[in-house]
Amino acid sequence: MKWLLVLIYACTSYAEDYVFPPNFQFGVATASYQVEGGWNASGKGENIWDVLTHNRPELIYDQSNGDIACDTYNKAITDVQLLKSLGVDFYRFSFSWSRILPVGTSNKINPDGIRYYNELIDELLKNGIKPFATMFHWDLPQPLQEIGGWPNPVVADLFVDYANVLFEHFGDRVKDWITFNEPAVFCGGGYEDGSKAPAYKGNGFGVYLCAHTVLRAHGKAYRLYESKYKASQGGRVGITLDTYWFEPSSDKPEDIEAGEITIQMNFGWFAHPIYSKEGDYPSVMKERIAEKSSTEGFPRSRLPEFTPEEIEEIRGSSDFFGLNHYTTNKCTPLPAGWGIPPSQWTDIGTMCYYETNWEIGASSWLAVVPWGFRKLLVWIKNEYNNPEVIITENGFSDKGELNDCRRINYYNTYLEELLKAIHEDGCNISGYTAWSFLDNFEWMRGFTEKFGVIYVDFDDPDRSRTPKMSYYVYKNILATKRVDWKFTPDSFNECEF
Ligand code: GAL
Repeated sequence: MKWLLVLIYACTSYAEDYVFPPNFQFGVATASYQVEGGWNASGKGENIWDVLTHNRPELIYDQSNGDIACDTYNKAITDVQLLKSLGVDFYRFSFSWSRILPVGTSNKINPDGIRYYNELIDELLKNGIKPFATMFHWDLPQPLQEIGGWPNPVVADLFVDYANVLFEHFGDRVKDWITFNEPAVFCGGGYEDGSKAPAYKGNGFGVYLCAHTVLRAHGKAYRLYESKYKASQGGRVGITLDTYWFEPSSDKPEDIEAGEITIQMNFGWFAHPIYSKEGDYPSVMKERIAEKSSTEGFPRSRLPEFTPEEIEEIRGSSDFFGLNHYTTNKCTPLPAGWGIPPSQWTDIGTMCYYETNWEIGASSWLAVVPWGFRKLLVWIKNEYNNPEVIITENGFSDKGELNDCRRINYYNTYLEELLKAIHEDGCNISGYTAWSFLDNFEWMRGFTEKFGVIYVDFDDPDRSRTPKMSYYVYKNILATKRVDWKFTPDSFNECEF
């Protein structure tokens, strides 16, 4: 009996025993509009977030804006010391398109924009931190919105011109590039449900046009790097896609189908054209939107079609799979007759919700469901032939507590699921990024929801920074390559988990 117990014990694996592989890379992330400030400094042009927050402050929960935000425009150099002491391998930041190209087009480059990012990149490298750069994190130059924004196909070419400027000026030092951050969110929010700039309410049309331009732009920017820069600069280019895990609400076949349709039409929408063997949009998506469009009296599908050349250009256009993940929903089919057609959610035709007993962060959508993270990682492995995944965002919101035990619980539990995905499921995950380095401007929620491992005092003109307990816990994870529930940093009270 005793031996049996010993055997059972030996065969049982505990996530606490797992360590991160030796080459696993850790980082933290921010995005230009959310942290930089300097909204009209030295030649910067206006972008759609400047315009939205200035003209329609009522859409922002606390009527705030990113005019100053964390003032990283003036604090980039000192912030690097906080990154260094945290011990990150890389810093994920984004370029502000209108700081580099004030009117969006590459015929006019703003020297101060080039200076600012040169200084940041050089300082990072001097301190042994790799710059991991996103080209577009939602702040489209306003003049490009005035010609229609992403639904206008021409914007794909203008994005490639911008990408070319970035490769040319920074590619000697930046080796890790992300073209777009979360296209599903900025296309859906910008052109369908109005929850992100430019805050248009759509009808199942502009949202797909936006995505179509973005996918074409991504493919072209990747091919540009491949043909013109890769040999000399030797870097890599990818994209960051986001998704919840969508768990079927029961074992019934229709609920299982609802979960699958939801992930295909929210995430496969971008992932399938880039990462699948066949390329193009998922067939379930093409079929459903064509069918709905026809019943709604449209002469053709509201989902645009790629040419065979575009399918080829986009297929395989990524050197890694950037994944942002925060939470999970349960899904079931939308009852017949529900939903207002035409619309993206009627096309998807499911209802998704969180369980009332799940813990929720300060953001009403952010339920803490660590097991969903692992299921998603396994789904990606199976669906796209185990690509190299880098978690480019994951994190938790609260009201800004320094003793942020709930954030620590979130990181520990999500990282444990990630370790199981690596060690038990064979998922190919090479990096992890905590969102966020600093408390910052959380889009429509203004400064009311805090994601940082560093507290920023937004009432202080100097925007002083104070590392939270989670900063030290993350630092310990980075140093020891494991999750340690018992670790309590000096001068903080122990958390009760
Ligand atoms: C992501 C986004 C970030 C940040 C985060 C927390 O969708 O990329 O900019 O806001 O969510 O809500």
